[in-house]
Amino acid sequence: NLAALFAALAAYLLGSIAFAVVVSRAMGLPDPRSFGSGNPGATNVLRSGSKLAALLTLGLDACKGWLPVWLAYQAAYAGWLDHAAVPLVAVAVFLGHLYPAFFQFKGGKGVATAAGILLAVSPWLGLATIGTWLIVALFTRYSSLAALAAALFAPFYAWFGSGVAWRGDPAMLLAVTVIALLVVWRHRQNMRNLLAGKESRIGSKRK
Ligand code: G3P
Repeated sequence: NLAALFAALAAYLLGSIAFAVVVSRAMGLPDPRSFGSGNPGATNVLRSGSKLAALLTLGLDACKGWLPVWLAYQAAYAGWLDHAAVPLVAVAVFLGHLYPAFFQFKGGKGVATAAGILLAVSPWLGLATIGTWLIVALFTRYSSLAALAAALFAPFYAWFGSGVAWRGDPAMLLAVTVIALLVVWRHRQNMRNLLAGKESRIGSKRK
């Protein structure tokens, strides 16, 4: 199906815009890939000391996940796109963030982008997952641990909410699970740091 392929490609290219790098560059801040965890994400941009840059990165990376999935749903409802293309678009934009075409395929860990994707799939699924992130972040001050907890819970929220609170279909459930597993996979170094007691907490400055 050509429309589905085109939609997925467009989503991948949009996902490939690393807003952590774009925002930092625009604000005259150091490249987030050069300090801290080296991750082009909001948490690491915060280590530059600029809360505004971190907030912009978070917001733009989340919008980047939300927009293509929302558009794909609209197109599917209008009959322009096969419904099966929506989970494909969700995974494509996420893969764009992780392996961006414009940044030598070295991207981020996908937390903000995944949040945007989940909000587009279902506000309830998105809010439950973001709520999980917030609770763990509030109590532990570890962004990565919060992301890991949220990633582990998201497929369960998707499963339980499916058919009730969100537009559940098995393919989207699979897409959410794949995205959650990739978030965990991308936090390998964070898990090692957490276990070694060396993980830096939210807001601690760059090393
Ligand atoms: O959003 C990524 C976050 O969970 C961890 O970021 O920079 O501490 O590896 P970082």
